[in-house]
Amino acid sequence: MSLPEPQLFQPITINGLTLPHRLWVAPMCQYSSVDGMPNDWHLVHLGSFAIGRAGLIMTEATAVSPEGRITPEDVGIWNDEHTVGWRRVVDFVHGMNTAIGVQLAHAGRKASAYAPTRGRGSVPAEESGWTTVGPSDVAYGRFTPPEALDADGIAKVIADFTAGARRAVEAGFDLVEVHAAHGYLLGQFLSPTSNLRTDEYGGDVHRRARLTREVVAAVRAVIPATMPLVLRISATEWVPDGVTVADTIEALHDIDGVDLVSVSSGGNDPRQEIPSHPGYQQPLSREIRAAISIPVGVAGLITTPAQAEAAIAAGDTDVVYVARQFLRDPMLALHASAELGGSLEWPWQYERAQYLKGLS
Ligand SMILES: Cc1cc2nc3c(=O)[nH]c(=O)nc-3n(C[C@H](O)[C@H](O)[C@H](O)COP(=O)(O)O)c2cc1C
Repeated sequence: MSLPEPQLFQPITINGLTLPHRLWVAPMCQYSSVDGMPNDWHLVHLGSFAIGRAGLIMTEATAVSPEGRITPEDVGIWNDEHTVGWRRVVDFVHGMNTAIGVQLAHAGRKASAYAPTRGRGSVPAEESGWTTVGPSDVAYGRFTPPEALDADGIAKVIADFTAGARRAVEAGFDLVEVHAAHGYLLGQFLSPTSNLRTDEYGGDVHRRARLTREVVAAVRAVIPATMPLVLRISATEWVPDGVTVADTIEALHDIDGVDLVSVSSGGNDPRQEIPSHPGYQQPLSREIRAAISIPVGVAGLITTPAQAEAAIAAGDTDVVYVARQFLRDPMLALHASAELGGSLEWPWQYERAQYLKGLS
């Protein structure tokens, strides 16, 4: 008698896209681009997860404009050359029958930063840094303060996300994600500590959610109706005066056109105290999942197949995103399938090498 397929390996349909299982690669910055171009690194890095049969692969935060890059080395999707570069990555992943989504991002006041291996804080102008923008002229920690966006600046942000989404469709991506988490531009608007505006983009939760609402609507309007749109949010900022889970739920009720919410937390306030432990964000996804009518995903120190399976079985989430463990083991999904009794198959190139059998 065969065991029932584990819940982690049940397919899931998000809008018009059916994913074969629920163990997905979370977005991970690589700081490996010149002028925003996807290159061989992205092909091999993301391609390896496709060889490993991940359920869905997310690109790293992909800048919709040069000034929206977190660091000068961030990858982008703001010109047609980028579209061509991404198509090469997407085609390889599709050749492995795997789906890939792009995380559309603008770093706002946290842009023009050093990549972690190069330094800390803001890159100065003489080292190719740039003037950053934000909801208000309030700095993130010791970063250089941003310029507050005016109406034209806000219109440009929306137009840049829209153009990025169009290019994502042209490049063949299966899904687009709007990055509103981790204290980047949309997260800065959502937060009362970074958004001090007195116009229609600042004030109560509804008004602070306006830019995210408008970006999501603009992106939704240029992608196929059946293409999933994911919104990544920081459910809480882990500071007493910042965004709370209740605020996030209120904001989500206010934003139409999202097919799945990717639940994360923090990133907008250096005072944050994150209670890091295995599965530390699952209480957040559980609460949000109970309050909204669409599926959710969660990441956060989920490293073992059993943990991922338990997160779904407990009703904490519909899908599991994994970041660091996929770096340690790009074959994680295949290993998880073997461990939990799923039916994922190794690529024929590896399967044919009989020595793999019995080792997974
Ligand atoms: C190297 C690295 C880069 C990351 N870059 C991004 C990113 O570009 N966008 C994003 O939303 N989250 C990013 N994250 C956060 C991850 O997506 C994930 O939420 C977090 O690492 C927790 O998952 P984990 O415990 O499985 O690593 C990054 C994490 C790591 C480790």
